[in-house]
Amino acid sequence: MPKSWLITGTSSGFGRELTDLLLARGDTVAATLRKPGALDDLKAIHGDRLWVGYADVTDTAALRKVVDDAFTALGHVDFAVSNAGYGLFGGAEEVSDDQIRRQIDTNVIGSVQFARAVLPHFRNQESGHFFQIASALGQSAIPFASLYGLSKWAVEGFFEALAQEVASLGIKVTIVEPGGAKTDFGTRSGDLAPALDAYANTPVGYIRTHMASMADAAKGDPRKMAQAIIDVSERPESPLRLALGSDAYEQITTALRQRFE
Ligand SMILES: NC(=O)c1ccc[n+]([C@@H]2O[C@H](COP(=O)([O-])OP(=O)(O)OC[C@H]3O[C@@H](n4cnc5c(N)ncnc54)[C@H](OP(=O)(O)O)[C@@H]3O)[C@@H](O)[C@H]2O)c1
Repeated sequence: MPKSWLITGTSSGFGRELTDLLLARGDTVAATLRKPGALDDLKAIHGDRLWVGYADVTDTAALRKVVDDAFTALGHVDFAVSNAGYGLFGGAEEVSDDQIRRQIDTNVIGSVQFARAVLPHFRNQESGHFFQIASALGQSAIPFASLYGLSKWAVEGFFEALAQEVASLGIKVTIVEPGGAKTDFGTRSGDLAPALDAYANTPVGYIRTHMASMADAAKGDPRKMAQAIIDVSERPESPLRLALGSDAYEQITTALRQRFE
């Protein structure tokens, strides 16, 4: 039976791939984004099965309104995917106060407020399944991405607690932990702090020098990852966590083993 989905950050990357795959298989999607026109091609093909709403996830009032409007338009939403986000890169001392605030406002507060906006609707339905796009860096940590990692560790903690709060209300939570994937994440969408000379010979300087080749080396296919999310949505028993990509699996198992030791 066709399902209905609400997804943030659908202009590119995982969000767009997921939207495209779901529409192609006959589901209905309420897609939210910042960029007018970015889904016009899909709208032209799929018509009423694609509802488009605009909101920057850092604008909580606009986010609440777009979520309410989406539920009104669709009537019922089976799955809510909090995907909008980006990476801030640079050493902890290199990033500016404003860059830190924007990273947390987008990746943390945006995800939390999206969930809070969806929850009353899922409660009324007595059903619903959240997918929170976190990262392998929500379970592990690397230099040059301390603030991005902070944001993903934060959502991991929030959604693990939320899963326990709402399970008896018929609401499920899955935290998705992709490894490196070929999206706009490492290029167009990222935010890079200016270099401090003092870090040139540290891991921060090393990663800065090699970041383009590292982004190029990201192996994950975002379409396959989006399909994995769809596959999990069909399971009667959904996992709390879903690591995607062999690098994510390796990174997370290594981090957990080291922490345990
Ligand atoms: N690619 C990877 O290697 C990787 C790995 C692990 C986790 N992730 C996570 O996957 C998610 C999606 O990223 P992606 O890889 O698909 O990269 P992407 O192609 O850059 O997509 C990011 C999406 O988030 C949207 N977005 C960013 N800030 C927003 C805001 N304030 N309000 C509304 N939308 C906003 C972007 O919209 P605009 O087009 O308007 O900027 C874009 O649609 C992110 O949460 C990211 O942290 C990515």
